[in-house]
Amino acid sequence: MATTFKLNGREVTVKGPDDSPLLWAIRDELGLTGAKFGCGIGGCGACTVHLDGEPVRSCITPVSSIAGHAITTIEGLDPSGRHPLQLAWIEAQAPQCGYCQSGQIMSAAALLKSTPNPTDAQIDDAMNGNLCRCMSYVRIKKAIKLAAAKMQGAKA
Ligand code: FES
Ligand code: FES
Repeated sequence: MATTFKLNGREVTVKGPDDSPLLWAIRDELGLTGAKFGCGIGGCGACTVHLDGEPVRSCITPVSSIAGHAITTIEGLDPSGRHPLQLAWIEAQAPQCGYCQSGQIMSAAALLKSTPNPTDAQIDDAMNGNLCRCMSYVRIKKAIKLAAAKMQGAKA
């Protein structure tokens, strides 16, 4: 059955089985490959996108369940590709192989939206389910703090 939803602000329609994962629709049908396949069972966070602003695991989200909703992927996080988190990621040299990083950034973006000035514990809690086999956790946390400080400064 066809499913229509908004992807990065644009209405799209995908076809395929209702229980097909949203991740397949985004990557294979719609050609956006920023969200990655890691575990396929909701355990690693590589496939994280936003559903109506909340982080979800697109590998375990049936595409039919998002009809009429808004999905944001890393490609749509900032039209210029210069979201404060993306700039902080560069400044902190957070990525190593890079595979997990779009999921990391999408989880961090949701965190900073709800908690603009997170504590270490709040960062750990929010990022807990995003795994990085390259162990870039220290630099990811540094990047989140950098972005939070810049976003706070921009508002002041
Ligand atoms: S690929 Fe979706 S959580 Fe691992
Ligand atoms: S940077 Fe390689 S898995 Fe995270």
